[in-house]
Amino acid sequence: MGGRYPFQRVDLTVEGKCYLNGEILEVTIAIDDGKIVSVCKPTRAPSSEERIVVKGKKIILPGMVDMHVHMRDLGETDKEDWLTGTLSALYGGVTFVGDMPNNKPYMNEIRKLALKKKVAGSKALVDFGFYSGFPAKLEYVSELIEFGILGFKIYPHDYFKDLQALIKRSEKQNALIVFHAEDPGMVEGQYEGIKNVTVHHILRPEEAEITAVRNLLGLIAYEGIRIHFTHMSSPNAVKEIIGYRAKGFKITCDTCPHYVLLDSSFTSKFGGIAKVNPPLRSEESVKGMRGHLRGGLIDAISTDHAPHKLSEKLDSDYERIPAGFPGLEICLPLLMKLILDEGFPLEILSLYSANPATILRVPKGRISPGFDGDLVIYDYSIRWCVRGEEFHSKAKYTPFEGMEVVGKPYMVIIRGVVALEDGDVKVEKGFGRYVSPYGSRVSRLEA
Ligand code: DOR
Ligand code: ZN
Repeated sequence: MGGRYPFQRVDLTVEGKCYLNGEILEVTIAIDDGKIVSVCKPTRAPSSEERIVVKGKKIILPGMVDMHVHMRDLGETDKEDWLTGTLSALYGGVTFVGDMPNNKPYMNEIRKLALKKKVAGSKALVDFGFYSGFPAKLEYVSELIEFGILGFKIYPHDYFKDLQALIKRSEKQNALIVFHAEDPGMVEGQYEGIKNVTVHHILRPEEAEITAVRNLLGLIAYEGIRIHFTHMSSPNAVKEIIGYRAKGFKITCDTCPHYVLLDSSFTSKFGGIAKVNPPLRSEESVKGMRGHLRGGLIDAISTDHAPHKLSEKLDSDYERIPAGFPGLEICLPLLMKLILDEGFPLEILSLYSANPATILRVPKGRISPGFDGDLVIYDYSIRWCVRGEEFHSKAKYTPFEGMEVVGKPYMVIIRGVVALEDGDVKVEKGFGRYVSPYGSRVSRLEA
């Protein structure tokens, strides 16, 4: 905990019971000029222009960080846009989102990313950063990193491109490489029966994830490179990652709430709505993923918030149903359910805040001096059932439909500004800011 001299007056203090790096402590958090300047015992708090005192069944949490979302702007605003997507984030207590590059147009050069930055900057309610896809030209690597991308996102269709060259260029500038792990040769392969959504997990088996992790790591695990595997669904694939990590490589991974709470029977129950890549897995695999999560072997949680139109999700043709569903609004209440009802360690909150922020190197998700003044005041007294039609996303459906969850963000503070209070949005569209990793040229210039 850092201190400040008591005679210094700050913009805002928030006082009360707080989740602080795995513990719950009574503290005062002081925020000045958008940044946390001290975290101390309430008796030592500085005076402030505005004081928020948190009482009763409410707890102060860091702003949540979702490192994997799809906001769909520019070209697919019928599915989501920066306003509705970040509205959903705000109601979910998420103060920073990392947006994936599979947009229309595909984000793999600065010209397009600059356009996205402009659009997101005019609509977003929470802070945001972008990944680049495999660059349109390898010569672009350097300027993309300088532009402040969070990293490069590599999809299965990129595996046959010159990954070695990308990695060598990225390593020099310490850029993060994020993989979607599913071996392209092993999906939708040998299956003989009728293809429909209930066999989606057979058409895209776990072995495809395991093989992809093994092959990719065999190919690219160099000493210096930072590699992240996103939306992991297979406990055995996670074991492969852990094996490499034990050898000293800097490899991290995340999973999503659906891989620890829903098994493939939900695909039978919800049909196309539950179609996602990688697919929902067997009961046994879900158990395995839960074990890894409890055991601290998974570094982060992301939602893979992937909105599509309901009409597309209800298509009777399996092949045509797009994979993915929204998740931003319910991730934190689902984590609270895991903690309070199912005995998961409190530390899983850091997997959706400080840990992804550390992986992405952004000053978010941590209640500590120097970090952005992002806080969630979470009311854990309420229990409610998930209803897709209540989502603020354009995608108003979910395979979590009807599941009971615990609590809701009562207030969300971003850079010291109250952005959501008791269900009301308090900031204008365009409040959200572009955030780039520490050390990138943009972050230096915009600091
Ligand atoms: O289910 C998915 N949906 N998986 C992906 O990798 C992409 C995503 C999307 O963009 O819809
Ligand atoms: Zn995704």
